[in-house]
Amino acid sequence: MLEFRNVSASIGIIEILRDLDFRIEPAETLALIGRNGAGKTTLLRTVMGFTKVQGELFFDGKPLTAVSPPRRPGLGIGYSPEDRRLFSAFTVEENILLPADAARLGKEKTRRRLDKVYDILPELKEMAGRPAGNVSGGQGKMVALARALMLGTKLVMLDEPFQGLAPALALRYADALRALRDSDRSITLIITESNPALLRGFASRTLVIERGEVSEGSIDPERKST
Ligand SMILES: Nc1ncnc2c1ncn2[C@@H]1O[C@H](COP(=O)(O)OP(=O)(O)OP(=O)(O)O)[C@@H](O)[C@H]1O
Ligand SMILES: [Mg+2]
Repeated sequence: MLEFRNVSASIGIIEILRDLDFRIEPAETLALIGRNGAGKTTLLRTVMGFTKVQGELFFDGKPLTAVSPPRRPGLGIGYSPEDRRLFSAFTVEENILLPADAARLGKEKTRRRLDKVYDILPELKEMAGRPAGNVSGGQGKMVALARALMLGTKLVMLDEPFQGLAPALALRYADALRALRDSDRSITLIITESNPALLRGFASRTLVIERGEVSEGSIDPERKST
């Protein structure tokens, strides 16, 4: 469903990712593991169209490079960046709705999708009217997840979602991801982490990224993140 064919990606004149050549199938939960600065965020941003790409990227069998960055979420791609950027003056629900507004999803589809997101994250329904500036950091991560799920009907990419989450909230977050899986068996998840232990038993496959190069890997419980 997502395929990198000999992809290199640059920011400015600096090549960050080199010769990525792999594909991800529907229903996979991919852990992308790498140390700080390895290129995890750059890889996700490359899917969103924020880097300069050489090579070919395919989404659902179609060239992704032909789709402009603002149109990519509308293909069914949800992205929760590392820096989650909630708009603090907007309510929780308004924040969740932003991608749907931007993609002009339409009232009916937006309502149906929002209902589904609240099924997966019911606690957010209770805080829907609160200003996003008044929720805790951990709750903000849940809001960012909900926002990614609004358009992420095929692919959801989460950049270090467990980073800085208190243990109880991390468990809750993982539960929400399981609920997402249960509600849609064909959805593809890509989750980045620097600490592989956090995704053990969760991912169906692991890729390791090191200095901008990706290789098939296994989660080594002994490896410490740096
Ligand atoms: N805007 C930028 N301009 C120049 N270099 C950048 C830029 N953003 C990232 N880089 C470089 O690209 C490399 C990969 O960075 P990236 O943020 O993708 O790593 P990461 O794996 O997400 O790291 P972290 O675990 O710290 O989030 C690093 O060497 C970084 O210095
Ligand atoms: Mg990063």
